Amino acid sequence: MKKIVIAIFLLSTALFAQEFNASMKTYVQSLSVEAKKENPSFGGFDAKRGEAIFKSVHVSKKGKEISCATCHSNDLKQTGINVNTGKSITALAPSANPARLSDVKEVDKWLRRNFNDVFAREGSALEKGDVLTYIINQ
Ligand code: HEC
Repeated sequence: MKKIVIAIFLLSTALFAQEFNASMKTYVQSLSVEAKKENPSFGGFDAKRGEAIFKSVHVSKKGKEISCATCHSNDLKQTGINVNTGKSITALAPSANPARLSDVKEVDKWLRRNFNDVFAREGSALEKGDVLTYIINQ
């Protein structure tokens, strides 16, 4: 009985957990090497910390309050809106939009731009890894 329960549990996590593709895995792996260099006690990326980063509110260069959720919404399965251009942004959650977090170049480019928009600086390896871990699980 116990074995069956474990088997069902493993099967359900395999079915529902989103995974990075091979190139994204390599990218996240390189972020973790960098994070470890910056802080030797680094023990892995964390979706909870990523969520806090995603939802934290900052004052932008334009003097407005902004967070990642301002454009991408608090529910990543929903369509967001680019507050700078008024254009809609398709859902960021890979479960709702499988094209998301699949292209390293795209992800790297937008993380750089978007961290600059919100934090007025680039994200650290730790911050980027945490936030990607949060998004992949949405
Ligand atoms: C001013 C609006 C805005 C803010 C704020 C913003 N984003 Fe974005 N983000 C965009 C736009 C626009 C795109 C590119 C268009 C698209 O992919 O639909 C994008 C794309 C992305 C992508 C690429 C996803 C992929 O695989 O295609 C990631 C990851 C991302 N944003 C994360 C973040 C994070 C993390 C933050 C907070 C640090 C953030 N965004 C804040 C507008 C924003």
